[in-house]
Amino acid sequence: MAVAKEHIEPKKKASAQKDEVVIHAQGVKKAFGDKKVLKNITFDLKRGENMVVLGKSGQGKSVTIQCVVGLLKPDEGTLDVFGENVAEMNDDELKQLRIKIGFLFQSGALYDSMTVRENLEFPLTRVLKLTDQSEIGKKVEEVLDGVGLLDAIDKLPSDLSGGMRKRVGLARTLIVNPEIMLYDEPTTGLDPITSREISELILNMQKKYKTSSIIITHDMECARITADRIVVMNEGEYIAEGTFKELQKSDNEIVRSFFNE
Ligand SMILES: Nc1ncnc2c1ncn2[C@@H]1O[C@H](COP(=O)(O)OP(=O)(O)O)[C@@H](O)[C@H]1O
Ligand SMILES: [Mg+2]
Repeated sequence: MAVAKEHIEPKKKASAQKDEVVIHAQGVKKAFGDKKVLKNITFDLKRGENMVVLGKSGQGKSVTIQCVVGLLKPDEGTLDVFGENVAEMNDDELKQLRIKIGFLFQSGALYDSMTVRENLEFPLTRVLKLTDQSEIGKKVEEVLDGVGLLDAIDKLPSDLSGGMRKRVGLARTLIVNPEIMLYDEPTTGLDPITSREISELILNMQKKYKTSSIIITHDMECARITADRIVVMNEGEYIAEGTFKELQKSDNEIVRSFFNE
């Protein structure tokens, strides 16, 4: 079986896709009334890349990713996902787009009355419309195993710790194999050890599922562990870009403030 799969997905194709841009933002601006939140956002997210957006509270980080999934429309500039302008998509196209984009909200938002298994079955039956119970069961077990929670399959969210709930939330997002993952402050509210586990999980999931991710955070340990590249956002603009090591040497005061915390 493994050999046959190699033939279907030749290595050449994988390397050709490596520099493919999955999100292209060009001069994006967004204001609410008089308040200019996004002033000029330009970036490319490449396939398979983890891009961390570092910024203090209220800088426009969440607004940026809401524009990516079409929940908000930029006033100016363009945001292309998989080569298509999100602002010009109709409801049906947006729905199709959102199947390809996993969105991990701060809260994780599990259904409290459903077991872990039922929480994970939900996107398979409702979003992917799968009906084959053995296929559904297999996918649920595989993704739970991936986040190290196979033992919790029959538990209710209320029986789990905050870190475990976050893992299940991540599993539920990953189970539909999104090509892009958007993490909005994935470690906020977690203790340092759990934060580290979640950050390592984000890295492992990137490797395992080859997803491209935007990770919004102000947790420097999370940035260090997960980032291929970091952009620093301040007052609606990106003021610096580089690897963790490069930014560590920055003499920009705002950039330095993150490393000196
Ligand atoms: N739907 C909205 N309507 C009005 N103001 C908003 C809306 N969404 C965000 N804002 C404002 O935009 C600014 C940036 O918000 P946000 O992107 O959530 O910041 P953060 O960088 O903390 O994620 C904040 O001042 C927030 O109050
Ligand atoms: Mg936010």
